[in-house]
Amino acid sequence: MYSEKVMDHFEHPRNVGEINDASGSGTVGNAKCGDIMKMDIKVEDNIITDVKFKTFGCCAAVATSSMATEMVKGKSVDEALELTNKAVAEALDGLPPVKMHCSLLAEQAIHAAVDDYKKKQGK
Ligand code: FES
Repeated sequence: MYSEKVMDHFEHPRNVGEINDASGSGTVGNAKCGDIMKMDIKVEDNIITDVKFKTFGCCAAVATSSMATEMVKGKSVDEALELTNKAVAEALDGLPPVKMHCSLLAEQAIHAAVDDYKKKQGK
């Protein structure tokens, strides 16, 4: 039911953990299933130089957060805001339709972390 890429990111998630001196952090939850995701970003000169996540959730939620961290690393904070859950799902060679809602967590967590960063910058 899952693509090879989804299984790879689920079994070997990239960028798992926390950043102690994070520039911004966001925690979001999925009201449908109760799963939770936390995303930390480190920003230097407006570029996301490091990103870590922790997900208490299903296979699709773990795989999409892992892929999303790979996709925003090295990008500017504004570019990161343009990342959609659809783009993350496509990068994973698709998700089963019933699992698309899980990929929203990754998009929302990145947005929350960037918003937190901007707030701390007074923007
Ligand atoms: Fe909860 Fe997938 S079932 S995020």
